[in-house]
Amino acid sequence: MNDLDAMQAQAAADFAAAPTAAELENAKARYLGKAGRVTELLKGLATLSGDEKKTRGAEINRLKGGIEAALQARREALAQAELEAQLKAQALDVTLPGRQRGDGGLHPVSRTIERIEAIFGSMGFDVAEGPEIETDWMSFTALNNPENHPARSMQDTFYVDVKDAEGRWLNLRPHTSPMQVRYARAHAASHAGTEPMPEIRVIAPGRTYRVDSDATHSPMFHQCEGLWIGEHISFKDLKVVFTDFLRRFFEDDGIQTRFRPSYFPFTEPSAEIDMMFAAGPLKGRWLELAGSGQVHPNVVRNYGLDPERHIGFAFGMGPDRLTMLRYGVNDLRLFFENDLRFLSQFR
Ligand code: PHE
Repeated sequence: MNDLDAMQAQAAADFAAAPTAAELENAKARYLGKAGRVTELLKGLATLSGDEKKTRGAEINRLKGGIEAALQARREALAQAELEAQLKAQALDVTLPGRQRGDGGLHPVSRTIERIEAIFGSMGFDVAEGPEIETDWMSFTALNNPENHPARSMQDTFYVDVKDAEGRWLNLRPHTSPMQVRYARAHAASHAGTEPMPEIRVIAPGRTYRVDSDATHSPMFHQCEGLWIGEHISFKDLKVVFTDFLRRFFEDDGIQTRFRPSYFPFTEPSAEIDMMFAAGPLKGRWLELAGSGQVHPNVVRNYGLDPERHIGFAFGMGPDRLTMLRYGVNDLRLFFENDLRFLSQFR
């Protein structure tokens, strides 16, 4: 091996050993730079003469070409390796499942309310919503609770020290019964002069508030009011409608209901409605489900109607309790803690 072949081999080895592009350029300078070994060889040509210079010059040029080729090859290899490393680092596994938002679902109590609306809707009941902040008149006075009458304390109302623009006391409604009055008054007004007035048939679900808190009571809970006013609507209709509702709601045609005498200022007579399942774990036990009664004549008068002519029933039930019974939930507070482990079971 002559000196030039040895230098060519040395350069190729140096290039191969350079792990990065920067080190490769340093190695290049050692051969091809201003003071590089090939450059030095070329400078040495000046001392030669004639033919010698020609032959040696050609050999050095061949060497230079060989070194440049080795350099270029190494440059390409390094660039390729770098590209591959980069691609590997940024690798995207297109077969991974995407990040999903997760399936949402309705709250179990909302599902119950929708179910109540669907069943009563199929029986011709309208659905109404009303304010949760009510006037004292709507929550009590219109419902035949005389001011300062002890019956007002039947409900553990959240009284607030606030009046509205017209100077009326406000409260968080303790029941949905004010909706009887709101809906019936609007109905009577919009059908004024229509003879006979179309019947009032409405349910009004929504949030209600009382100072009460344990496993079966929450300061915020739900009620659903029902009202059917016509010219001949009686307890008999209430029993048919409510029993039919329960059988459809719980999908149990053997459900029985009974009325138990009770007292509400706004109904006379008044009754609690109890139900009994024909099957399942609660079979054979009477369960209290709703308050109800024939609407009191004073209340019908506050609807803006003549109690001699317009009669009917009202009831108030608890969608929270219906939900507990339907799904076998034993603590009402679970509905309002918003623990997803609980709620996601109802999706
Ligand atoms: N409002 C009553 C309550 O909160 C329930 C009820 C509604 C009773 C309608 C009779 C008629 O307990």
